[in-house]
Amino acid sequence: MKKKVKGGPSTELIILIILCVTTIIGAAGWGLAAYRLKDANEQLEQNSNLMVQLQEEILDLESNITELEERVNTVESEKATIEGEREALKTEKESLETELNNVKTQLEDLKKQIDEGQILSSTYYGTRPDKIVAITFDDGPGPYTERLLDELGARDVDATFFVLGNRAERYPELLKRMASEGHEIGNHSYDHTTLTKITKEEATDNLLKSLEAIYNASGGIRSEFIRPPGGHYSETIQNICKENNWSIILWSLDTRDWESRDETAIFEAVFNNGGYSVKDGSILLLHDIYETSVNASLEIIDRLEAEGYTLVTVSELLYWDYGGAEAGGVYN
Ligand code: NI
Repeated sequence: MKKKVKGGPSTELIILIILCVTTIIGAAGWGLAAYRLKDANEQLEQNSNLMVQLQEEILDLESNITELEERVNTVESEKATIEGEREALKTEKESLETELNNVKTQLEDLKKQIDEGQILSSTYYGTRPDKIVAITFDDGPGPYTERLLDELGARDVDATFFVLGNRAERYPELLKRMASEGHEIGNHSYDHTTLTKITKEEATDNLLKSLEAIYNASGGIRSEFIRPPGGHYSETIQNICKENNWSIILWSLDTRDWESRDETAIFEAVFNNGGYSVKDGSILLLHDIYETSVNASLEIIDRLEAEGYTLVTVSELLYWDYGGAEAGGVYN
């Protein structure tokens, strides 16, 4: 029998060893691959988590951007508003400056005219209302004047009173009230003498005496307006006025209240008197020594205001419609 030579490992063993080695390598390879797969999976999971995180951050940023855009819009619209306001203020400033310059020019003109003796009053009255009426009361003050002043005050209406000097002496409190409550006081002579029927000296004395009585009773009003009794004047009377820097104020609408003594008739004389009815720039004549006149005048004032008229003093009316009063001038 032939004996096997035991010179090295047998073929079977080698094959077995090779098989074992191959199996081990294969297993190791699988193991490694599995390990790597797991690792890759973990990585993938981490990456997808990161992606979700990033997407969230992107959303956050996008909403931040929207918010910022909204803020920018708000700021821009605020800017536009402010710029609009700035423009409006600029325009207003310009128009105020223009107005100021106009006033300055008017003032300069007035000063010049006053210096030259053309104009008596130097007051500036602002812009003329659309429709104006001056209501005037002659022959007072009297027993009804106090109530009239109360009612005028309640309506915030200014009137002009052509008072008699002797009545000013009798009612100094009323003269003071007229002066302090914004009414105007004119001179209707001392005692209602018809000035055209006396000499120039007598007429001058009469008016000066009345002027002094008004000055003392009112506490310092130096009347520049003369309303001659009955409206009777002459060149002589005009000359007296010129010499004393006075002007003659008549009327454009005579209510004939002293004659009718009837409230309805007085009211109708103002509003339903054909071509003589009240209009813009009218000077109304009433007498505050009659109760009917005082009552009617209040109804007249209420109706005038309802019709859009502004009640003004004679000075205001002359300022707007005649550029002031001239010494010796006659206005109606
Ligand atoms: Ni009179």
